[in-house]
Parts: sequence; C-alpha cells; structure tokens
Amino acid sequence: MRHRFHAICPYFAMFPESFAEQWIGELTRKGDVVLDPFSGRGTTAFQAVLMGRKPVACDVNDVAYCITKAKVQAPSLTSVLRRLTVLESGYKKGEWLRRARSMPEFFHVAYHNDTLRQTLYLRDALDWRKNRTDCMLAAIALGALHGETNKSPSYLSNQMPRTISTKPAYSVKFWRDRNLLPPERDAFALLRTQARYRYESPPPEGEATVIHGDMRHLSWEKDTLPGPIRLAVTSPPYLDVTNFEEDQWLRLWFLGGPPNPTRHRVSRDDRYETQVSYWSFIADMWRMLGAVMAKKGHVVIRLGGRGQEIDSMQKKLASTCSFSGRRVELVSHSYSELKKRQTDSFQPGTKGCLVELDCHFQFIS
Ligand SMILES: C[S@@+](CC[C@H](N)C(=O)[O-])C[C@H]1O[C@@H](n2cnc3c(N)ncnc32)[C@H](O)[C@@H]1O
Repeated sequence: MRHRFHAICPYFAMFPESFAEQWIGELTRKGDVVLDPFSGRGTTAFQAVLMGRKPVACDVNDVAYCITKAKVQAPSLTSVLRRLTVLESGYKKGEWLRRARSMPEFFHVAYHNDTLRQTLYLRDALDWRKNRTDCMLAAIALGALHGETNKSPSYLSNQMPRTISTKPAYSVKFWRDRNLLPPERDAFALLRTQARYRYESPPPEGEATVIHGDMRHLSWEKDTLPGPIRLAVTSPPYLDVTNFEEDQWLRLWFLGGPPNPTRHRVSRDDRYETQVSYWSFIADMWRMLGAVMAKKGHVVIRLGGRGQEIDSMQKKLASTCSFSGRRVELVSHSYSELKKRQTDSFQPGTKGCLVELDCHFQFIS
C-alpha cells in the first residue's frame, strides 16, 4: 500500500514518489545521504526515510517546510489525538466571533462561520515551528484547508482547487456567480478523521535533516550535514509556471502569514520569470551542488517550463553544471509530455507546463 503520509498535502508541480523511489533505489544504499534542495511536499525526503536513507531537505517556503518536517519527523498518532483533544477542550466559540468578523470578505465566502472560527483558533494555537505534534496537525490542516469540496468531505473550504489557493477576488466572484455556499465542517472532527486515516501507515523511524531556507546557503551549512551527499533528487521551480508564494497564499496565511496573496515576503528571489534570470538561478543551484555533493555523487533533476524547447532546456541545464566548479557528466535524459488532466490543474489563465525533462548527472570527481 502507498504510504498514506505521501498525500498529506498536495503541492503544485509535485513529482510522484515512484520518481524518487526509482532513483534512490538505483543509486544509493541504506545509510546514504540523499538531498532535495527544493523539497516542496517532501517526497524525496520522505521516500528516503522509508528506504533507510538519511535525507536532507531544504525549502524557502513555510508550507513546504511544515509538510516535509511533519512527514519525516512524525510524532505518534497517540500524541496527535491527545493534542487534538486538548485543543478542542480549550476552544471557546464565542471568543472567536470578533476575530472572524474582522477577516476579509474572501474568508466569509470560503468558510462557514463556525469553521472559520475554529480555523482561526487552530491557526493561533498550533506552535508548528517548535512542536512536532503541532507541526503534524498543521500539515494535516494545510491539506484540508482548501479543495474540491463537492467531491469530498475532507476539505474545510468552499469549492477550490487542492494544489493552489485561488486569488481572493477571483474566488469570491466564482462562488457568487454559482451560488456556492461554504460547507459546515467541524475542523476538530475533520482533523481527527484525517489523522487516523494517515496513520494507517505507521510512521517510519529514521534520521532526517529539514532546513528552512534558501538552498544557496546549504554550502555554508556543509559541515552540519549528516555526511557526504550521495544523491540529490530534486525539482527546482519551473520557468514561468507558478509563483510558490502567491499560489500558496491561503496555506501561508494559516501558518501565520497575512490574509492575502503576497510576493517577495517568503523569498526575494523572483528570478523564475525570465529565461536569463532563471538560468542564473539554476547556475546558483549548481554552485551549491558543487560544494555539498560527495565524490562521484549523482544528481537527478526534473525540470519544466513554458515557452522553451525541450532540447534547449536540456542543453542549458547541462551547460550550467559547469558552475559547480567540478567535472560533471550527463548520464542520461528523458522527457515526458504532461497529460491533459495535469496541465489543467495549473493556475487558471496560464497554459501550464507541457513538457518535463528528467536529467541524471554524475560528478566525475
Ligand atoms: C517544483 S517545487 C518542488 C516540488 C517537489 N519536488 C514536490 O514533489 O513537492 C520547487 C520548490 O522550490 C522551492 N524554492 C524556490 N526557490 C528556492 C530557493 N532559493 N531555495 C530553496 N527552495 C526554493 C519552492 O518553494 C518550491 O517548494
């Protein structure tokens, strides 16, 4: 059975665990260190723990950090359920009326009044940065915060996509035009059900390092990593496809951010939008990899983008590896066209990413 932690919270441009599993199985042994510098929902890191490897995961985004950490440093189900009981008994509905009223219009059409008050309370109460149990509860809540309510009772919100948070004005108009009302959901009951469901797969034991920050700083933290990195399996942001801060705004709000989409608050790096800046960003990735990878270490990269020929993307990726300052060989590459359903789930109004490129490199020295 697929481990149920994998799907705790979907993520935009995520790769499937089979991708990480294949490369980890092929290129590493038990105990080896496996890196994902752009961790997203933590698929590489979690798969590495499941396979007895030591993952190092890094991401600038709070959402990615929270989900990755929850999966690889999971508390027991007993402590999750106990914490939920304590949280529920401390909740006083009346105390949250004023806070709920002060929220922008979006929140009143997105959430039923009672659900909104519970969500505001949980947002305040969960100490997800410092406490492992709260981190798991926050990750489960992030996965439940918005989604296809018409298809499943596991979402707290009015009808929304699961992978990205649609913009406030767009969402309100969408709901009003279709007369869609928010469902009445008990957040505590929903989290309890979700936690029990996820923990039907037992949490694996193992050592994992999760870093909240810019991957470029990993070179400075080299000495604190658990050992030489044998393999990196990663997927950097795609060129001109999404802005992970803006498109995750509702989840970022739940983790303590402002109640509206933002840019450059989580990361000042906005270089994914033009070809030139994008490839200099990828060059920075190679600089970092050159500093942290083991001798003869492997790097597997999945890349996507809009408005680029696949051949030119592959050539640019291969040429930027010289910025690692080491000799690197392209071992193999392949590409896949995205199926319609995947493309459709990309941000409304964009054409999405139509092709994905997979490249396997190896450091020669
Ligand atoms: C394509 S996603 C990774 C998805 C991931 N493979 C998964 O399956 O969920 C790219 C990630 O890179 C992160 N990111 C962007 N710039 C970064 C940087 N400078 N350092 C670290 N992470 C960064 C984004 O926050 C995003 O989570």
